Amino acid sequence: MPDKETTKKITRDDASGLDRTLRPQTWEEYVGQAKIKENLRILLTAAKERGHAAEHVLLYGPPGLGKTTLANLISKTLGTNMKITSGPAIERVGDLAAILTNLSPGDVLFIDEIHRLSKSIEEVLYPAMESGVLDIIIGKGPSARTVQLELPPFTMVAATTRISLLSSPLRSRFSGGTFRLEFYSDDEIATILKRSAELLKVKTQDELLDKISKRCRATPRTANYLLKRCRDLAQLEGGELNEEIVKKTFSLLEIDSLGLNQPDRSVLEIIANKFNGGPVGLNTIAAATGEEPSTIEDVIEPYLIRHGLLERTPRGRMVSPDAYTHLQNNL
Ligand SMILES: Nc1ncnc2c1ncn2[C@@H]1O[C@H](COP(=O)(O)OP(=O)(O)OP(=O)(O)O)[C@@H](O)[C@H]1O
Ligand SMILES: [Mg+2]
Repeated sequence: MPDKETTKKITRDDASGLDRTLRPQTWEEYVGQAKIKENLRILLTAAKERGHAAEHVLLYGPPGLGKTTLANLISKTLGTNMKITSGPAIERVGDLAAILTNLSPGDVLFIDEIHRLSKSIEEVLYPAMESGVLDIIIGKGPSARTVQLELPPFTMVAATTRISLLSSPLRSRFSGGTFRLEFYSDDEIATILKRSAELLKVKTQDELLDKISKRCRATPRTANYLLKRCRDLAQLEGGELNEEIVKKTFSLLEIDSLGLNQPDRSVLEIIANKFNGGPVGLNTIAAATGEEPSTIEDVIEPYLIRHGLLERTPRGRMVSPDAYTHLQNNL
């Protein structure tokens, strides 16, 4: 039996709960990505005015930049329900058929990690996206026949961190548009952090939020994560958030002046020190660092490339002279 006192005291305050409270609920709260917001506003308003389901939209970009949040805002704007699923969760054609036939007219179907959808499911998805029908094969062998089901009109919003893994027929069916989310500027992150600090009831100053914005890899999720860790430390040290607490948090989490963490630095270090600066193949880096190749490609590299520390060449990955300087200054 769980202790009643403890169970009562624990409220949904951290982890997933906080992520949800910090997640923007309106377009005004969704900072940055101005071009995407404008394009979506036109797409969604026009469809709504015509009384049609909006066309399908594909969102891509590194983790934590706001894809899921955008999908939520899209369904809110359309005023319809959103069904959420993900590529790996749809294992059989029947799973997809069940999801699609249970949609109400105008609903949003959000498929996260769409690059992990199997080829056979993709093929069933094509006519569903294009013509709103589902072709199902009933029976086996010579007696098998195809039944065509009419689907309710729906809007598919798909998200992926790896657009390159999507087949071109699938990509081309996102007739509402394909949008790449950009990394955020320091100012945008500072605005996001200001709102988060208010929601978390953390007393702080703008200068401290600026410090956090510079070390969050230009990523809102990481910014919120760092703010929460600073808050935790401030709480344990019995005081307010101040410069010392922020510094100590960065050093405890091993986050350097550019916002790089230990796995980021070890990728750079291995290429720089063990492979003479490169070029070196992705799988070799993965083996040497112990990270998954996909993690290196999706999570670690985009930010290193953005900072000009790493280059992807046809012969492999190379580090730039700036990477050596950075590694030397952040020993
Ligand atoms: N534009 C934004 N303005 C304010 N906060 C944001 C913005 N984008 C993201 N966030 C914050 O970052 C968190 C993570 O965003 P979200 O879950 O939408 O990222 P994602 O792109 O779906 O990531 P993943 O690829 O890992 O699924 C959100 O809960 C929210 O608090
Ligand atoms: Mg997401």
